[in-house]
Formats: sequence, structure tokens, C-alpha cells
Amino acid sequence: MNKLQNDIFIRACKRQSVERTPVWMMRQAGRYLPEYRAIRKKADFLTMCKTPELAAEVTIQPVEIIGVDAAIIFSDILVIPEAMGMRLEIREGEGPVFHNPVRNEDDARRLKTIDPGRDLKFVLDAVALTKRELKGNVPLIGFCGSPWTLLTYMVEGRGSKNFSRVKSLLYNNPALAHSILDKLADADADYLSAKIEAGADAVQIFDTWGGVLSQNDFEEFSLRYIEKIISQIRRKDQPVIVFAKGVHYNLERLAGAGADVVGLDWTMDLGEVRKKIGSKVALQGNLDPTVLYANQDKIREETRKVLSSFGEGGGHIFNLGHGILPDVDPENAKALVQLVKEESKAFHHRGTETQRF
Ligand code: CP3
Repeated sequence: MNKLQNDIFIRACKRQSVERTPVWMMRQAGRYLPEYRAIRKKADFLTMCKTPELAAEVTIQPVEIIGVDAAIIFSDILVIPEAMGMRLEIREGEGPVFHNPVRNEDDARRLKTIDPGRDLKFVLDAVALTKRELKGNVPLIGFCGSPWTLLTYMVEGRGSKNFSRVKSLLYNNPALAHSILDKLADADADYLSAKIEAGADAVQIFDTWGGVLSQNDFEEFSLRYIEKIISQIRRKDQPVIVFAKGVHYNLERLAGAGADVVGLDWTMDLGEVRKKIGSKVALQGNLDPTVLYANQDKIREETRKVLSSFGEGGGHIFNLGHGILPDVDPENAKALVQLVKEESKAFHHRGTETQRF
């Protein structure tokens, strides 16, 4: 890894001592930034993902404008199913749509085995270009969707409320579900390994829809494949983060999946979670993203709550509990980052890297 000027995020992932808590935001490159919208006016979302110069530019925007401690490569989790042959459209105001959802064995058989170096070269080029343009300023995070979260979009064909079709698949044809999940896990592992080789300093697996499964189903259809990915990633010491939404009951098992960091949504108490799993993994999170609709005094109050809930010492990366919302005032995002940088110093003293509860 080349030398980073600001490596506070990486140190926190490894639960090493830090002078203050690092901060970044999921979906930090996005529509809430006028500078993003200016580029987005000229190119549609997928064109931006597939044009390394544009992807690199919007990846770096929040580092320069908002002051975050890490960049996350601009792309989408759904480029993997697209590379497997699914026709993807991101509809304005509606979100992603697959025109040929996977519903049976024939559909599944048509899914191609991908080679990231060939089929997702545009992402790897964007990673390499972004790394050059960041000039070692802050680390770059690569990411993928968990096999289960990808499967929900591939089977439903779009976002869903009840996940009826994908859950029907789990219960009526579990063997088919497992075979697709297994294929996705291999693709994810190769993809994250290729991103690390192209220069990513850390990787995050998004299991956005893990929380819609029962405890047993989560273990069988999601966690098992997250574990498979982590065991197969080719890496030196680049941290792996797993973000799962709504998985209260499965925290211990998630912490044992082999990741260095567990990302939490805003419904969980950081201090409580730390007591349970803080000796195994670092924690990332977990301010409610809607707090950014409040005034800056309220944002300060809520930021302090998150910091003091975690308490003193290393092993915390400040983040939102899910992605930043598109109608947030960028001034509030800027204020949040500044507040974390200032307010968190009090939680880090020399010699407190051994965790205190
Ligand atoms: O965090 C970052 O800044 C990196 C970029 C990023 C995007 N998508 C860009 C994007 C990341 C990490 C993702 C992950 C992603 N994509 C997830 C998992 C994380 C999460 O938020 O739950 C999921 C479920 C998707 C699928 C997806 N792609 C959805 C549901 C949407 C529509 C969302 C919306 O706000 O309209 C997309 C499109 C998308 N991905 C946009 C962006 C910036 C909006 C596209 C636009 O500019 O019109």
C-alpha cells in the first residue's frame, strides 16, 4: 500500500489508537451535492459509472467539499448482475430496474460467470485513476453488494416492499437460490480482490436487505455467503467492513464472519453493541441519516450522543446508519464532518487504545 497522508480511517478499522474518530458517509457521492448534479446533468448514472474520469471526479468531490476521511469509489452494487447479462436501467425517481429478472432455472443458467478484469474493467480503471488523483490524501474504499442483497434485485427485478418473489424462491426452490448465491459470492470475492489489486485500501460488503430475513434464513441465505466472500478475498492487510441493516439478533454471528469492521444502522445502541462484539471488531456508524434535516445545534447534540454511546478509545468509525439522503443540505453534511472531527478528540487520549467500557 502506498503511504497515506491521512490513514486515520484505516487505523480505526484495525482498532489501533487514533487522535480523533474518523468519519465518512455512505452514499457520500450523490445528488445532495450540486457539484454531483452538475456532472449528472451531462451523463446518466450508468454512463458515469462506466466512465472512469467521471467516476473518479465524483468520488473525490465529498473528500474536497465535505472533508471526509475516506473516499468510496463511485459505482453501484448492481454492476455485477449487469455484467452477468442482466439488463439494468436506473430510472429517475424510481431506482433500479432489471428487464429480465431471474425467476427459474433457465434464467439462472443464462447468468454468465464473470471475469472482473474483463467484464468490470471500467470499475478497476476508475479505482486506479481515483487512487492516482487522490495522491495518497485519504484511503479509497471498494465495495460490493452481498449475494443476498443482489439476489433480491435480480429476482424482484426492482426495489421491493415484501420481497415476495425472492422469498418464494427461497422456500420453493432453495437449491436454485443457493446455486445463484454461491455464484454471486464467487463473483463478489473476485471483484473485491481485483479492486484491492487496483488500489482499494479497504472494502465494504453492503447487506442492505439482510434484516428482512428471519434469524435462521439470514444465517442460511446471507451470512454463509458473506463468510465465503471474506474467506476468498485476496488481500494483504486491507480491512473488510460488513454493513448489514436490521440484523439485531445476528450481531455476534456477523462479528464472527471474518470482517474487521461491522457497520450498524441507527436503530442499534453503539455502546451496547460494543459490549457484545467490540473486542472482536471495530464498529462503524450509526447516526440516523434524517438527523441531517435538523438544525446544526440538533446535529451537534445527536453527534455527541453517538460518540459518547461508543465511549472512549479506538475502534469506531463515524458514519450514518444508512446512505445520505438526496435532499440533505450539503452545509449540514459539512457541519457534521467538522463536528465529529472536533467533538471526538475528547474520546481519545494517549494510552486509551486498550478499550474501556
Ligand atoms: O457511497 C457512495 O458514495 C458510493 C456510491 C454508491 C451508489 N450505490 C451510488 C448510487 C453505493 C455504495 C451504492 C450501493 C447500493 N446501490 C446499494 C447498497 C447500499 C444502500 O444504499 O443500501 C443498493 C441497495 C444499491 C441499488 C441502487 N442503486 C438503488 C436502490 C438506487 C436508487 C437510489 C436512489 O437514491 O435513487 C441506485 C442508484 C444509485 N446508486 C444512485 C447513486 C448515487 C442514484 C443515481 C442517480 O444519480 O440518479
